[in-house]
Amino acid sequence: MRGVFVTGTGTEVGKTVLAAAIARSVAATGARVAVFKPAVSGLDQDGEPDHALLRRAAGSTQSDDEVAPYRFGPPVSPHLAAELAGDPIDPEHVVASAHAAADRADFLVCEGVGGLLVPLTLGYLVRDFARELGLPVVIAAAPGLGTINHTLLTIEAARAVGLEAKLVVLTPWPDDPSAVERSNRNAIEQLGEVPTAVLQRLDLGATDSWPTLLPVG
Ligand SMILES: Nc1ncnc2c1ncn2[C@@H]1O[C@H](COP(=O)(O)OP(=O)(O)OP(=O)(O)O)[C@@H](O)[C@H]1O
Ligand SMILES: [Mg+2]
Repeated sequence: MRGVFVTGTGTEVGKTVLAAAIARSVAATGARVAVFKPAVSGLDQDGEPDHALLRRAAGSTQSDDEVAPYRFGPPVSPHLAAELAGDPIDPEHVVASAHAAADRADFLVCEGVGGLLVPLTLGYLVRDFARELGLPVVIAAAPGLGTINHTLLTIEAARAVGLEAKLVVLTPWPDDPSAVERSNRNAIEQLGEVPTAVLQRLDLGATDSWPTLLPVG
């Protein structure tokens, strides 16, 4: 399977935007890109859901079920959303769905849920799923205060189970970064022994205006 697993230092940190930018960039090379997210919650809230933004960016014709086999209304952890819906997440179904998506494409962009240690069930973490796919991990992180610790913890959590921390992307990167933000980037590169990139604030409606971001050769 060719692709990347996009995780983040936590929730609402820019995973979907980053995964969408990667999906669009890979699709622009002529590759068929599939997108995947094991579970989406928060559909009760306004705005374009993650699976829809990912699909739009990739130019994919996948169905909702093919992109995200579990979708829930309440904006809570997937294991709780599933419990509230009486529809527990079946890890085997998640993995089989991800493979089915990848089988019909040249490249899979998979977004996690929250951070690596978020449970899909109380016995199966997002990290367990990432490990089964075995894709290199790209980490979305905030540029500002607090990000060094969160990012290094995430890198450790990935490497602890043999996952490759491929790239950290600081998002949204300001047009005029402060000394703190530039220092954070350096510190993450040195302490995490990982390459970093930055992603400017994107106009999510205008995919044509997005920069190219190709984390794999
Ligand atoms: N580079 C960026 N350009 C535009 N908006 C951004 C960027 N990075 C982060 N954001 C904004 O930050 C918020 C969170 O981004 P996003 O939805 O990608 O996070 P997430 O980590 O996928 O969240 P979740 O845990 O809910 O899946 C959004 O409002 C998004 O618009
Ligand atoms: Mg998201």
